[in-house]
Amino acid sequence: MLSTSFLSLVLFAALGLGVAGLSIHELANSTETSSIRAPIRKLVRHEKLKDLVVHDQAHAKALVHRGTGGKSLSEDAQVAGAAIANLVTTYIASMNVGSPATTYDVIVDTGSSNTWVGSGTPFRFTRTTRNLSESMFVQYGSGFVVGFEVIDQVSFGGPLTIPNQEIGVATASQGFAGVDGIVGLGPTDLTEGTVQGQDTIPTVTDNLFALGIIPAPVISVSFAPTNLTFDVNGELVFGGVDTSKFIGTLSVFRITSSSPANAFFGIDASFSFGGTTILPLSPGIVDTGTTLILLATQAFSAYTKRSGAVPDGATGLLRLTPAQFAALPSLNVIVGGVTFTLTPDAQRWPQQLNTAIGGSTSFVYLIVNTLGSPEGQGLDFILGQFFLERFYSVFDSTGFVGLAPTVFTNATVNN
Ligand SMILES: *[C@@H]1O[C@H](CO)[C@@H](O)[C@H](O)[C@H]1NC(C)=O
Ligand SMILES: *[C@@H]1O[C@H](CO)[C@@H](O)[C@H](O)[C@H]1NC(C)=O
Ligand SMILES: *[C@@H]1O[C@H](CO)[C@@H](O)[C@H](O)[C@H]1NC(C)=O
Ligand SMILES: *[C@@H]1O[C@H](CO)[C@@H](O)[C@H](O)[C@H]1NC(C)=O
Repeated sequence: MLSTSFLSLVLFAALGLGVAGLSIHELANSTETSSIRAPIRKLVRHEKLKDLVVHDQAHAKALVHRGTGGKSLSEDAQVAGAAIANLVTTYIASMNVGSPATTYDVIVDTGSSNTWVGSGTPFRFTRTTRNLSESMFVQYGSGFVVGFEVIDQVSFGGPLTIPNQEIGVATASQGFAGVDGIVGLGPTDLTEGTVQGQDTIPTVTDNLFALGIIPAPVISVSFAPTNLTFDVNGELVFGGVDTSKFIGTLSVFRITSSSPANAFFGIDASFSFGGTTILPLSPGIVDTGTTLILLATQAFSAYTKRSGAVPDGATGLLRLTPAQFAALPSLNVIVGGVTFTLTPDAQRWPQQLNTAIGGSTSFVYLIVNTLGSPEGQGLDFILGQFFLERFYSVFDSTGFVGLAPTVFTNATVNN
């Protein structure tokens, strides 16, 4: 039996005030099996594909806004138009809440930290639900959710159930059509000011760690490239690192000190392309809620010029002829002296989905695009899903990001 004082001690630990859990390397070497696995699937929404770039840029703007402490939309009307996660292509997990459980399809988002359900499938109270009756409001740009907080048991389909998880229940929301909510996997501080009467809300990861269910407040994400519009192609692991999902070395980087990237899973990186540095060492973020790879405007211009690509009006993406694509250099992302190379194929939009975005089968479209803002803002790039489909990623709430090559890093899958 845990005593109350022990419980508060572990709670403090989870809040970063005391004992740390295992490091990413210790997790990778550990034979511990106390991790929670959740299959995740990619959902590409055909009817919205043409808005892809617009969505990603708006999302980036909303992230910068939140990262700089903006809590309400009225503080910055510019973020209007941005949904939290890119709802055009999204990674979704099934989250079971209550007993008997109701299953909700939630967006897997490392760029926000509130977990909530009820925007699609209505929330169902069961015998395990405790109503906290505290009002919740999270502004995500044009999207928002308003509701109240409950405590309930949660699981992701595996044998382990997470007791006493605080989650939000939506009474109204906007911008989340087709999904039921979000599992917010970002740093806890992003929940600040979202619930009346509470400073911050423990995330699922915090709670699992505080309860001693997982050995560290760490999540690992494995995505695989796909040419399908619906595919179970990923796995989220709470409190573990799955060494079977990557090859070679898992490199671990400290979170950047630059704001606003440091409010998220931000790292410092430089980008080189065709023998030229197109972005000097700059802060940016790794984000499961962004689809593309986005670069600050100068870096994007240099990329466009060197690749010979032209902006394509129909898709919003950069476009190449097959002959130009054959000469496309690799794009190198250099973090802490380690180079993560995106092959030409890894810079390419899946050919099979060209027409789905209003493109032509005779062109090659690229997944590198612009942030829409200049360098020097403290958030100069976003490594989104297309990057994470090539590299295994680990997010440690105590301030680290891990990246490793996988069997998909060099794979040719998009032609
Ligand atoms: C296992 O631990 C060693 C020593 O700390 C470290 O060098 C190595 O990278 C770890 N393995 C992984 C896969 O992280
Ligand atoms: C839970 O609390 C909210 C906010 O006070 C309230 O609107 C709602 O009706 C309550 N629901 C139940 C089933 O207790
Ligand atoms: C989609 O990708 C799979 C695996 O890479 C491949 O076998 C399949 O032929 C591709 N589908 C199309 C329509 O190209
Ligand atoms: C990818 O290809 C490069 C260049 O051939 C090679 O150095 C690297 O080890 C490969 N990586 C993986 C994960 O296969």
